[in-house]
Amino acid sequence: MISQQATAANTGLETAVAVGVEIAGVGHHAPEQVLSNDDLAEFMDTSDEWIRQRTGIRQRHVCDPTKGESATWLSASALKQALDNAGVDPGELDQLILATVTGEMLCPSTACRVAAEVGARGCAAMDLVAACSGFVYGLNLAHDQIRAGSARTIAVVGCDVMSTVMDYSNRAVSVLFGDAAGAAVLRACDDPARGKLASCMHADGSKWRDLYIPTRNDHIPQGADRSMARVNSVQMNGREIYKFAVGTFSGLIQETLDRAGLNAHEVDHYVCHQSNARMLEAARERFGLPTEKMYINIDRYGNCSAGSVPTALSELRAMGRAQSGETVMFVAFGGGLTWASSLWQL
Ligand code: ACO
Repeated sequence: MISQQATAANTGLETAVAVGVEIAGVGHHAPEQVLSNDDLAEFMDTSDEWIRQRTGIRQRHVCDPTKGESATWLSASALKQALDNAGVDPGELDQLILATVTGEMLCPSTACRVAAEVGARGCAAMDLVAACSGFVYGLNLAHDQIRAGSARTIAVVGCDVMSTVMDYSNRAVSVLFGDAAGAAVLRACDDPARGKLASCMHADGSKWRDLYIPTRNDHIPQGADRSMARVNSVQMNGREIYKFAVGTFSGLIQETLDRAGLNAHEVDHYVCHQSNARMLEAARERFGLPTEKMYINIDRYGNCSAGSVPTALSELRAMGRAQSGETVMFVAFGGGLTWASSLWQL
């Protein structure tokens, strides 16, 4: 029976008292360099019209490595903003969870470097790999640790530098992605009604071939083109992912609503992974939601993988929306395949 006492002693939290969890601050950052659809059309066989009609994307931000722009830089910029926004000192962080599939290197984790960069020395830090669902996975894990009393303040960052895994000779994939990071600082609070109302997390590894980044040519399935040009770049079966995403997206929203005992209209905001504007519109129409409930920024960013949900949240908050007292559902799906949701009373 030492575990509860030890937990309370480690964190200073009274485990007998229900703990609320608030999203105390948010931030986001994208590189200055922008690639418009017309810019892409200058060096590949594509057009602004094709890209906009199929995806809703007009432009994407892309890091410039010659200026030292990297996953660490993007993540640290977003996290510094989120800490400022929350009024939280970096030294107060118990943990930093960084969702990414484009970390700087295998070891150390990018999270360790970001923690050092923002001055959060000593806080636990780790990378989480769940592709586009990574930030939502991280949000759920961070929330549950705070509610359980094993941490008080956790930063969750979603960052992907997709330009580092893009083969710009593959027009079917490279027009879709961009670089960005977003961050949220989660903190224990006195009001137990605040925090997660329901969440879902899923994966189906049997479909990994529909979206993956090979790091050796023997990762590429037999029978497919195993040329080295494909190594270290995103390989995607666009039609299969589209089918998976359309089906999963609505199913996931319904599953989360059912768990919370709410109907779709009782949720104030749906903050969704920005993979394709057509998919988002289809889900919105299926639930009969007004446009203002489902924020879309894919036109300016493209698909930023784990960076997309926190960037959308940070932009919404900057506009005075998704504020305390409102309900927000986070929804994402991506490589793995993975899919996850998190429904909050803010
Ligand atoms: N510009 C012009 N033509 C193109 C381009 C391009 N960038 N890319 C493909 N085409 C061509 C194809 O070669 C094909 O030509 P063909 O008929 O002569 O062979 C034609 O356009 C149609 O190609 P499709 O792949 O069938 O196009 P589709 O209507 O399926 O749209 C798209 C492609 C936009 C990629 C769609 O499948 C999609 O959105 N899939 C989901 C992908 C996604 O969201 N991935 C993100 C990662 S996963 C995630 O975030 C969850």
